[in-house]
Formats: sequence, structure tokens, C-alpha cells
Amino acid sequence: MIKFWSYEREFNKYRKPLIKNIEKTIKKGNIFFGDEINSFEKKFVKKYKAKYGIAVGSGTDALLISLKTLNLKKGDEIITAANTAIPTISAIINAGGKPKLVDIGEDYLIDIEKIERAISKRTKAIIPVHLYGQMCNMEEIKRIAKKNKITIIEDCAQSQGAKYKNNFAGTIGKFGCFSFYPTKVLGAYGDGGFILTNDYNAYKQIKRIRFYGIETVSKNRFKDKYYANENGLNSRLDEIQASILKFKLGKVDSFIKRRRELAKVYSKKLSSTTLKLPKENLKNKHVFHLFTVFHAKAEIIKKKLLKENIQTRSIYPYPIHRMKAYSKIIKNQKNLRNSEIKSKGIFSLPLYPELKNSEVNMICNKLIKVLKKF
Ligand SMILES: Cc1ncc(COP(=O)(O)O)c(C=O)c1O
Repeated sequence: MIKFWSYEREFNKYRKPLIKNIEKTIKKGNIFFGDEINSFEKKFVKKYKAKYGIAVGSGTDALLISLKTLNLKKGDEIITAANTAIPTISAIINAGGKPKLVDIGEDYLIDIEKIERAISKRTKAIIPVHLYGQMCNMEEIKRIAKKNKITIIEDCAQSQGAKYKNNFAGTIGKFGCFSFYPTKVLGAYGDGGFILTNDYNAYKQIKRIRFYGIETVSKNRFKDKYYANENGLNSRLDEIQASILKFKLGKVDSFIKRRRELAKVYSKKLSSTTLKLPKENLKNKHVFHLFTVFHAKAEIIKKKLLKENIQTRSIYPYPIHRMKAYSKIIKNQKNLRNSEIKSKGIFSLPLYPELKNSEVNMICNKLIKVLKKF
């Protein structure tokens, strides 16, 4: 079986340094807020050329905490794409906001042409979701945000290391929110997330919110561990995950290189099929967190591939406004047609750095065979 994703090969490859790091970290005697989180935060910020960075408990928390700094009032709206991951939406609602969905374009990213129409007097922010490994058109989003005085919070959960006009994902908006969910470009062996910002006051506030609202002094030391300056959360990244992530951050460029190589193999082999293949937009560096294709007969194709021992996944099969949890909150949202069409036909093929070229070739050959029958 070719699994859609697996960490087994990665773990086997890096077993020694990973285990050594974990042991060393445990021996240091800190489970939270020790050297590992400090040095990981420093390394991440330096690598992606931002001023400040805060490691948190998950990508969902990264979004929630960033949104909390906006002090949303009832009825305040946050614009985002209709085909995003559930957590983009739950973060908005849990921060007290109302999601306002915008349809997607042919690249599965928020349709730039439709954003301005969705802006109202209550719009406080926009969350461009850089889905599947590719960044949204940030030049236009920046222009619209500036004109309408709204904050940009980038959802970079699927696009760590991606670039738009040479700017890294997460460094264009006020906040860049990352996920270290194990399948991601930089995956932990558990949950984790990160926020990048160039705003010092926001950075200080995010550090407070991350840990019960307690003020920090330098690094991750606390002014008074038992005194809250504002109402916060518990969203710590533990030392073990920080040490794993720090080690893997040193390898992340090679992971991305390999993802791009494999995407090239897929694109070349599948170029003359009826599948709609992913495209790298102009001015973009795509990191291929996922290799997402579209076909009107996606369901049958997926079933046939599974019979050939190839796992695929539909990310995401339901547009947000069609889910029970949100259909009542997100009412009267029209013009989301493309999100509905795409959600029925998109699916992703296996792609992770340890996948072999021969396996990708084999997947393509089987897929070509399946497609010939339509
Ligand atoms: C686009 C997007 N946003 C947010 C998240 C939330 O990240 P996490 O699972 O780390 O909470 C994810 C991850 O699943 C995601 O893909």
C-alpha cells in the first residue's frame, strides 16, 4: 500500500538524532519554556526574515491568538476563503468574529476579484489561506487591506517556506500563522504552531495570551508567574516538540526541494491526462504541501486507486457553509459556486519527501490506466 502520508520513513532516516535530541532535552529538566523553545523561535524568525516569533500549541491556536489581539466585537467580520480548513473558521468564531466567505478561483485560492465585494463596515481582517503550498496574490490583498484599513492574518499552515515575490509566507501580513501538525512541511511528532509578526506590541500581547495572560520579560521568562495582565489561554509548545522542530527546521529546505521534485515528476507524467493539474502561479514559489488535482469523476478515480493500493485524500470535500456547524452562522452567502464545484472534484495524491520517484511513477501509471477507462 502506498500511504497518503506516513512518518515511518522519515523517522527511520533521522532516528538517531531525533532520539538523542529528545533524551538531551528531557535531561535538561524543563518540559516547558526552556532553551529549546527559545532557540527554535530564534531560528524560525531568522530563517523566515521576520522580527518576532512565538511558538504556540497548534496552527488553530496561532490563528485564534492572532485574532484575539483584534478585540473583536459582536458582528465584526473576518474575510476568508470558502474552501479552507475547518480551523480557520473555528478560530474566527472562537475569537468572537463572524466569518465572511469569499469564493475561490481556478487555483483554489481566494478569488481576488471577489474580495472587495465582501467588505463591509464591520470587516476587521482578512485571512488569506495559502492552501496546498501556494501563496495567495498578496500584492492585491495588501492593496485591498490598506485601502479598507483591515488587518491581514496569513494562514500559512500549508505553506511554510513558500514565497510570493521573494517574500516568505507569513511575513507580508500583520501575522503569519503556521501549523506543525505532523503532515505539514515542517511537522512535529505531535501538535504545534507558530506566529510571525513584525509588530513589537502585538508580539508582547501574543506572548501573554499564549500563557494565561502572564507578562514575559526577556526570552520566555515571566515577570510574575502568578499574575495575569489579560485573559489568556494555555497554548504552549513543549520542549520536546521544540527540539524536534529545531532539528527538522535545519532540513526543511531539502524537504521542500524534494517536494518540488516529486511534483515535477507528477506534472510531467500526468500532463496529457484529463486531470487538472496544480500550477505554480506567477511570482510564486509553491512548496507542494499537497499535490492536488481536479477531475469531475474524482470519487470513482479515488476508489479505483485504492483498489490498486494507492491512498488519496480529498482536502477539502465540504465547503465551510455546507457544514452543520456553520450553515446557521454563515447564512445568505451566495456566489460560492466555484468552491462547491471544486470541493466535489479535488483530491490529492501522495507526496512527502521520502516517497521514491519509482513510487510516483507507479502511481502515475496506474492513474493513467484508470483515466483511460472514462
Ligand atoms: C489551512 C489550515 N489552517 C489551519 C490549520 C490548523 O492547524 P492545526 O491542525 O495545527 O491546529 C490547518 C491544519 O490542519 C490547515 O491546513
